[in-house]
Amino acid sequence: MGQPMYLSLLAITVCLITLLATCPTLAVGWPIDSSFYDEIKRVVYGGGENIDDSVAATESSPPPPLSLPSSSQNINRPVEVEGWPRSPIPRLGQVSGVAINTVGQPVIFHRGSRVWDENSFNETFHYQHIEEGPILTNAIVTLSPKTGEVLSSWGAGFFYMPHGITIDHQGNVWVTDVAMHQVFKFSPGAPRASLTFGKRFENGKGYRTLCQPTSVAIASTGDIFIADGYCNSRVLKFTSRGELLRVFPHANEFLSLQVPHSLALLEKHDLICIADREDMRVVCRGAELSTENKEQAPLTIQQPDLGRVYAITNHGDLIYAVNGPTSPLIPVRGFTINPMTENIVDHWTLSKNTAINVPHDIAISKDGSSLYVASISPNRIVKYTMTPVTPLKSD
Ligand SMILES: *[C@@H]1O[C@H](CO)[C@@H](O)[C@H](O)[C@H]1NC(C)=O
Repeated sequence: MGQPMYLSLLAITVCLITLLATCPTLAVGWPIDSSFYDEIKRVVYGGGENIDDSVAATESSPPPPLSLPSSSQNINRPVEVEGWPRSPIPRLGQVSGVAINTVGQPVIFHRGSRVWDENSFNETFHYQHIEEGPILTNAIVTLSPKTGEVLSSWGAGFFYMPHGITIDHQGNVWVTDVAMHQVFKFSPGAPRASLTFGKRFENGKGYRTLCQPTSVAIASTGDIFIADGYCNSRVLKFTSRGELLRVFPHANEFLSLQVPHSLALLEKHDLICIADREDMRVVCRGAELSTENKEQAPLTIQQPDLGRVYAITNHGDLIYAVNGPTSPLIPVRGFTINPMTENIVDHWTLSKNTAINVPHDIAISKDGSSLYVASISPNRIVKYTMTPVTPLKSD
């Protein structure tokens, strides 16, 4: 057999192996149109000489999103700002939460030297290291959106195992601590919490106790939503003064949650969206903020490549999500979701040069121009700017 023949057979073999390695990830859940299959046909039947590095490169890094022609409008894709923060954040631990304050600065909630591991809690979800005392570093840190330098910090000597952080329209800071089983509201400048939910280090199923609460969302009406959490798997809704209004799911509702880990409110549609982490989906149900009671079935975004959804946030009608470790076939990355059509409309890379193994929270600026992802492995905060792209065709 002549050498050119041998080479082209080799090229075709490499091509097939590459496709096989890539296909399991491609086949699950990407809205793919016929041009993609035409591309496969071209590559498989049209000869190996057309293979280029861009196909082979998808083996090692998560496959890049397919941007297909579509008649719909451009959407924005988060693109990592490299070299941000410019210098390391001192004493930074696992960054469990990120929110954006009323002047557009990212505020992170981190664990200092404390780490959540398999010895942190026992089978009944009780924190096992109370005697070590609270975290002595300032757990809440405000950063410059431009440079990432620390502008201010507070919260030393109070928290045991930070989790979620939310900043409402008035600048109140809402945080959850999974060790204390509590949620706190801190008004701007106030020396201590102005509202507390749950009993310190006591967990339970009643309505005065929480169990490892994960996240909070605040409506413009002042209503409070608490995702409660790792063990109760419910969402509680309170008035701004802390009176219980609702428990989701309702007693007779055909909806179950497994670790609601993050919340996003789409007030325009009266929806509360929940990162239903262990069910590997995002569920949006009525937030029941408006008085006109239009009962509607929950919207569900669940596709095989989504995996465990760790965090969600929204800007307008779009939800930005990150998944966490699920299976070797499911890359950890970012997703853009249109909840109204229940579709994933885009995928994006968390970091080009550092593996973000466990992204844990996500926040977007009010104007939608900047997005941040908090990571607990490695301990990092990553900034993204939004860049217009043509979305995937979704049908
Ligand atoms: C878990 O720890 C708490 C407090 O440390 C204790 O009261 C409880 O009995 C423990 N539960 C189990 C199952 O060991």
